[in-house]
Amino acid sequence: MKPVRVADYIELAESTLAGDVLGYVAGGSGAEWTLRRNHTAYADLRLRPRALVDVEHCATGTTLLGTDLAAPLGVAPMAYHRLVHPDGELATVRAAGAAGALFVAGMFASTDLAEIAAAATGPLWMQLYWLRDRGALLDLVGRAEAAGYGALVLTVDTPRVARRFRDLRSGFTLPPDVRAVNVDPALMAASHVTEAGTSAIERHSRERFDPTITWSDLSWLRERSTLPLVLKGIMTAEDAELAVEHGVDGIVVSNHGGRQLDGAPATVEVLPGIVDAVHGRMPVLVDGGVRTGTDVLKALALGADTVLIGRPVLYGLAHSGAEGALDVLTLLRDELTEAMALTGRTALARVDRTILA
Ligand code: FNR
Ligand code: LAC
Repeated sequence: MKPVRVADYIELAESTLAGDVLGYVAGGSGAEWTLRRNHTAYADLRLRPRALVDVEHCATGTTLLGTDLAAPLGVAPMAYHRLVHPDGELATVRAAGAAGALFVAGMFASTDLAEIAAAATGPLWMQLYWLRDRGALLDLVGRAEAAGYGALVLTVDTPRVARRFRDLRSGFTLPPDVRAVNVDPALMAASHVTEAGTSAIERHSRERFDPTITWSDLSWLRERSTLPLVLKGIMTAEDAELAVEHGVDGIVVSNHGGRQLDGAPATVEVLPGIVDAVHGRMPVLVDGGVRTGTDVLKALALGADTVLIGRPVLYGLAHSGAEGALDVLTLLRDELTEAMALTGRTALARVDRTILA
C-alpha cells in the first residue's frame, strides 16, 4: 500500500514495529484518557466552508522567533529516533528541512547533536530536561549553542516520566545500540537495564530528572545561555502568564502527547484560553493528536503560531527513512493548503476563529 494519508503510516507502523517499541511510541500514560482526547477533541471541532473566494494561491509561510518557515509545522522533540529506523534523527532533520518545517531535537536524541545540526537545512531547536546534574545540563547547552541551535526548549511537564502501562508490561528498555549519545553514558545507564514489570525510561527519569526546580530556577538557565528559552508542556492560562512574567520567549501547549498527566484535557481544548492570556506577548506553539491538515488548520484558527507533529514523523521514518518522514510533513502541508482553500483563506493571517462553526 502506498500511504496517502498520515493514518496509513500509523496503520503500517502498527503492523511492522516490534511490540515493545510500538508500545513505547504509540502509548500514553494511565488509562490513556488524554491520549484519546487529543484526537476526539479535533474531531469535535467543525470548520465553516466559504464560497466564491479566489483561492488559487494559498500561502502557508510564516515566521517563528524571527525565522522563516515554509509551513507552520515542526517536528516535536522525541527521544531515540533510531529506535524505529537506523537513520534516526539524520533522516528526520533532513525531512524537516526539505519540508520547510522546524526541527526540535530531543535531549535524548540517538544521534550526535552536531551531526544533526550539520544535516539541518532549516530552523533547529534543542529540547532539554532539567537534570539533577546541572553541569551535564550546561554542557549540553554549550554544545547546542556551539552547533548553531536557535533556541532551547525546556520540557516542564515531566518532573518524572509518568507510568505508562504498555511499557510496564513489556518491561521496556533501550537496546544497547540505541543511546542518548549527547548525554554522559554514566547518567544514562538506567535506561538500558531491564527489570520485569517496570519501564527503564521511567526509572531513569526518577534517578536523573530534577523534580525540585521551580519558576525561580529559570533565571539560572537564562543567565548561562543567550539562546531564546521556550517552555514545553504549558496547559493552563496561569502557567502561560507565569511564563510571560518570567521572561520566557515562547511556549508549547502540550500534554506530552498524552504521555504525562492522564486526565489532562486535550491541548486544542485549552489552547484558546492560553492564547487569550498570552495576548500576543510571545509565540504559542501546540502539539498533540494532529494527524490531518484540517487538524492543523483548527489549531491555527484557535491561535497557535506553529503546530508540532510527534508520532506521525516517527511512523514515516519507520516506513521509509527520510523519505517517509518528509512525506508525512508534505501530506500535512498539502492538506492544510487544501483546507485553507475550502475555508476561503489565502494566507495564515486570514486564519482566525471565524473559521470554526
Ligand atoms: C515524546 N515526547 C517528548 N517530549 C519531550 O519534550 N522530550 C522527549 O524526549 C520526548 N520524547 C518522546 C518520545 C516519543 C516516542 C513520543 C511519541 C513523544 C512528546 C512529544 O514532544 C510531543 O509532545 C507529542 O508526541 C505530541 O503528540 P503527538 O503528535 O505524538 O500526538
Ligand atoms: C517520553 C520521554 C522520554 O515521552 O519524554 O518518552
